[in-house]
Amino acid sequence: MIKFHPTVNHCQLIDLPKIHNRAGNITPVQANEDIPFDIKRIYYLYDMPGGESRGGHAHKNLKQLIVAASGSFDVVLNDGKETKKFTLNHPYFGLLIVPGIWRELVNFSSGSICLVLASEKYSEEDYLRHYKDYLNYIRTGK
Ligand code: TYD
Repeated sequence: MIKFHPTVNHCQLIDLPKIHNRAGNITPVQANEDIPFDIKRIYYLYDMPGGESRGGHAHKNLKQLIVAASGSFDVVLNDGKETKKFTLNHPYFGLLIVPGIWRELVNFSSGSICLVLASEKYSEEDYLRHYKDYLNYIRTGK
């Protein structure tokens, strides 16, 4: 049995540093300082048709910071009981998603870029791709 099951309330918006410059801004993200994990992988989603959805899965161990590097989209989180929606529309806010949370990314604005900082390298074994399997996993740990 899982002793501790994370909830959507363990996921939070992080207000990242913003360095202003008249020629534009910089947002640095330092591992274990601005976010509570080491970064082993970065990936980004782009060229999504406007209004398209992604996600629809959970991870067993992965921690992620999701940033709207450009444009906007909504992240809908679910922990088997509660659902919480976050709108990401500024590059200096990141949504921290802890392991064991079901997520869907919806309502991409056209031309948006979703930047993801991840605590682990890609592993298909870490995915729970069916909601029924996810519910079973959080209830039984298997
Ligand atoms: P997936 O995480 O399912 O994307 P989304 O939930 O955003 O629709 O990944 C889509 C495909 O890309 C899947 O076949 C696995 C592959 N992929 C990698 O090979 N490496 C990665 O780091 C990621 C995130 C995905």
